[in-house]
Amino acid sequence: MTASKVPNVRLYNGIYMPVLGYGAFNKFKENEVRDAARVALEVGYRHFDTAWVYQTEEELSDAITQRMKDGVLKRSDLFLTSKLWNIHHRPESVERMCRESLKSLKTDYLDLYLIHWPFSVKGSGGKGDDLRTKMPHDDVDFIDTWKAMEELVIKGLVKSIGVSNFNIQQLKRLLAADLRYKPAVKGIEVHPYYTNNELLDYCKQANIVVTAYAPLGGGTPDSASPIKPANLLVDKTIQDIAAKYNKTAAQVILRWGVDRGYTLVPKSVTPARIQQNIEIFDFSLNEADVETISSLDKSHKCYNLDLYTDHPEYPF
Ligand SMILES: NC(=O)c1ccc[n+]([C@@H]2O[C@H](COP(=O)([O-])OP(=O)(O)OC[C@H]3O[C@@H](n4cnc5c(N)ncnc54)[C@H](OP(=O)(O)O)[C@@H]3O)[C@@H](O)[C@H]2O)c1
Repeated sequence: MTASKVPNVRLYNGIYMPVLGYGAFNKFKENEVRDAARVALEVGYRHFDTAWVYQTEEELSDAITQRMKDGVLKRSDLFLTSKLWNIHHRPESVERMCRESLKSLKTDYLDLYLIHWPFSVKGSGGKGDDLRTKMPHDDVDFIDTWKAMEELVIKGLVKSIGVSNFNIQQLKRLLAADLRYKPAVKGIEVHPYYTNNELLDYCKQANIVVTAYAPLGGGTPDSASPIKPANLLVDKTIQDIAAKYNKTAAQVILRWGVDRGYTLVPKSVTPARIQQNIEIFDFSLNEADVETISSLDKSHKCYNLDLYTDHPEYPF
């Protein structure tokens, strides 16, 4: 087995999670994540972040199964995250959808299952249809969805549960409910142009581990995509700091996240970048450089899900 270079963080329930993972949302482009995940496994990634809606669970599982067949990887070496989509919040759908992700990933448990967004919509079409076409609002209370998520832990289908894209008020309401298990992990967008300090502070005091998504600011702008990348990698301040440490801008941005104390899931389908992004545990930034990068914040959000801004539970 290849030893992973990535340190772990301990969740409140005693489970360990590698601080760096491989983000497997490929903007619905097919057949790239399979090879990319093979590379990721070879260079030491053990934590993989996917979701039902990403359509990459099967590709990830192909790469994982191959490494297992080669005898160089065991299921217990991995930390697999998937997410419950917005059209599946009804409590009676939760176990069925979790089992669908388990089947796609060819595993009998998930290390982490997240409620992907706090709002529910009606939909029965293909994966991601409700991202392209606005669907009617549904009125499922996420507390009821959470109760069904707790059942997954009890049944052993999932080790930890958490939420993504909830705002502080929504998190507070969830934490105030009569819970059997509180959220172990919270997914949020964080990068130097969107530092998200208030939410990070809140999660820290609530002992909820944060996973930063779009940690590189989503890459470079792409007019064909509704996502609004921050174009961070060409920032002059970041490039100057990177030169000082003899690292790339991407490595410095990721290390800034590690030094600020949360977990990160950068995505790349480019082998050299996949490798580069994990080579961030042989240096750290000094406090002044962490501060300088933090001061670049301009509230630039890449992921807004604009179609649903009028939903009562829209979080931003
Ligand atoms: N929970 C949620 O709601 C949520 C929402 C969004 C995303 N996520 C998760 O977060 C992950 C990452 O988000 P993201 O893909 O939007 O953004 P990202 O990781 O910030 O950026 C990805 C982009 O940066 C490029 N890149 C990666 N490494 C690079 C490097 N070393 N040098 C230069 N460019 C580099 C990639 O290009 P190439 O691929 O072409 O190399 C890609 O275009 C997703 O895959 C997903 O797992 C979660």
